[in-house]
Amino acid sequence: MKKAEVKFENITKKFNETVAVDNVSCTFEAGTLTTLLGPSGCGKTTSLRIIAGLERATSGRILVENEDVTLLPATDRDVSMVFQSYALFPHMSVLENVSYGLKMINVPKEEFTEKSLETLKLVNLEGYENRMPSELSGGQQQRVAVARAIVLKPKVLLFDEPLSNLDAKLRRQVREDIREIQQKLGVTTIYVTHDQEEALAISDKVIVMNNAIIAQQGSPKELYNFPKTKFVANFIGDANVVKAKIINQNNNVYEIQLAEMKINIKSDQKLESSVSVSLRPEKITISKSPEENSIHASVNNASFVGNSYQYIVNSKVGKIYVVSSDTNEIFNVGENVYLNFDEKELRLLDD
Ligand SMILES: Nc1ncnc2c1ncn2[C@@H]1O[C@H](COP(=O)(O)OP(=O)(O)O)[C@@H](O)[C@H]1O
Ligand SMILES: [Mg+2]
Repeated sequence: MKKAEVKFENITKKFNETVAVDNVSCTFEAGTLTTLLGPSGCGKTTSLRIIAGLERATSGRILVENEDVTLLPATDRDVSMVFQSYALFPHMSVLENVSYGLKMINVPKEEFTEKSLETLKLVNLEGYENRMPSELSGGQQQRVAVARAIVLKPKVLLFDEPLSNLDAKLRRQVREDIREIQQKLGVTTIYVTHDQEEALAISDKVIVMNNAIIAQQGSPKELYNFPKTKFVANFIGDANVVKAKIINQNNNVYEIQLAEMKINIKSDQKLESSVSVSLRPEKITISKSPEENSIHASVNNASFVGNSYQYIVNSKVGKIYVVSSDTNEIFNVGENVYLNFDEKELRLLDD
């Protein structure tokens, strides 16, 4: 399949006084899967519809393979979109649904049938071609929707929250199917979701949006390990975000006061005197006596969840959530303990 890079250059979209997308520039690399992730109303669907040509940007340019498509109608864009509601034609068989787009562009019957059957095989629906949509499970219907989109061999494949109508168990399966098909075809794919776990699981790159702008972008690991703002730290994974004071700065090393502990943390950001620090629950250890970088705490809650213990502890900087994979040494509710930090695992956040 064709591989095309998609680019936003200063894209703004206004609906009357609502700014849905605010001067966004970003690149969706050819052949990769990029997720637009963010809370409801942050501008994800609008961004996707601008790429599809279903919405026209108020200002800015959109490029596909370096060609300016800003003013090109949807039908001339070589872009296919899969919706959360599947939007299958209920009165048509699976085969008719999949071949519909090819029929519309006057591909001969023999050819569109062959191509559609091939595509159904690709989404693991071989043998289902004569069923009606109502005779399929939700997951199978979504795979028909995917087949219908990819049979046209688009340059760009778009998904808008495609798993929303599936139950939790199926969601994982279908997201893996989508990722597998995307990688098999190598098609540039842009995927919208508000679910951070889903985004981390399937993406080459995640673009986190908040209030119509990009909050941060990077690989799933970069975003999880190096959040730059409170919003991103809170939105991705279970971070503890606590207030701290900068007491010294030497180039990109900040000396931080966090409760009674002083600790040096590296950061390339320009930060004000009051910052927040992100502490991932699995990067904190609990002990009975202090270690190198420790603060006092007392155990508020302890729960055994099979492969780990989850603790909530009280400290001078508030309640802190800790996940300990050590299920041998157990701390009891009310016990006075120390929380130990690795300076390499703490992140300074812009407030
Ligand atoms: N057709 C429209 N008319 C007016 N406002 C809209 C329209 N589409 C979206 N919006 C507004 O634009 C903002 C972004 O919406 P949307 O892109 O759908 O967000 P998301 O997909 O991230 O939930 C919201 O405030 C929404 O109410
Ligand atoms: Mg949406």
